[in-house]
Amino acid sequence: MKNKFSPYVPRLATLKSKKKLSDYVTLFRFEQDNGRPLAHSPGQFIQVSIFGIGEAPFSITSPPIREHHYFEIAVRKIGSVTTALHNLKPGDKIGVRGPYGSSFPMQKFIGKDMLFIAGGLGFIPLRSVLNYMIRHRDEYGKIMLLVGTRNPKERIFIDQLEEMSKREDIKVLETVDVPDETWKGNVGVITTLLPKITIEPENTYVAMVGPPIMYKFVIAECKKMGISEDKIFVSLERRMKCGLGKCGHCQINGLSCCVDGPVFCYTDIASLEEAI
Ligand SMILES: Cc1cc2nc3c(=O)[nH]c(=O)nc-3n(C[C@H](O)[C@H](O)[C@H](O)COP(=O)(O)OP(=O)(O)OC[C@H]3O[C@@H](n4cnc5c(N)ncnc54)[C@H](O)[C@@H]3O)c2cc1C
Ligand code: FES
Repeated sequence: MKNKFSPYVPRLATLKSKKKLSDYVTLFRFEQDNGRPLAHSPGQFIQVSIFGIGEAPFSITSPPIREHHYFEIAVRKIGSVTTALHNLKPGDKIGVRGPYGSSFPMQKFIGKDMLFIAGGLGFIPLRSVLNYMIRHRDEYGKIMLLVGTRNPKERIFIDQLEEMSKREDIKVLETVDVPDETWKGNVGVITTLLPKITIEPENTYVAMVGPPIMYKFVIAECKKMGISEDKIFVSLERRMKCGLGKCGHCQINGLSCCVDGPVFCYTDIASLEEAI
């Protein structure tokens, strides 16, 4: 007999709108056909299925807001599922499983200063945390956002970055690895931005998402600035299939990235050779 509660059965969602963020990255806004919000926490991901093509995991980039029944993902066109997503038109349907995985510890962050470090597409999951905090701005201390991108053409959420740069209660610093003729800002890897900020290490939490190579260098710099390992939170991306801790695709030294992660406190993974 068919089990209608099987965790492998996706729920239907409808594309409401899409917005190009860069040459290869598009922001998609969906609503579930059951009328319910996703009820996620910032940092979690969903499994998205395109019927007849396949399924792939994506971070939820919108914050959880009770009145918002929609959710957003931002997707880089790279292969079959992501290309099919890019070809969808408003009104088209997808399947959704989740939200899955661990999230950033929003309760711990209350009253603290936040240092966000986003490398490339790492800005996608961090935007959920950041926008949640902006919505509840009084509950948090200083907000600092460092964003590193390979080149100016690959920058995403440019409108939001420009808007935030004008605010006095958020410090935004950007850098690109390789500039072009349009770029007037900082050039260099993301660690070159760290000397430009002042932090109180005992009151500062770090939320960081980016390519694995970035973590090693940035974590070393954060530690030099006096931030302890238990105040550093990272999100790790691994190939995923089930999203439920069953198939073993996303294992790191016995941890299931889809259930124990993707968000980890650095203390919990610092000793795992494969993790970072
Ligand atoms: C927890 C989690 C969250 C994610 N969040 C996002 C997100 O918010 N936005 C987003 O754009 N992507 C995200 N990804 C990556 C995304 O899942 C993959 O890009 C997607 O599965 C590719 O599917 P596809 O069918 O289009 O590509 P495929 O047809 O499966 O692959 C096409 C080609 O791309 C390569 N490839 C596939 N995935 C990756 C990858 N992750 N890195 C490098 N090369 C790859 C393959 O080896 C192959 O050569 C996330 C992954 C995880 C695990
Ligand atoms: S994706 Fe199957 S165990 Fe994590």
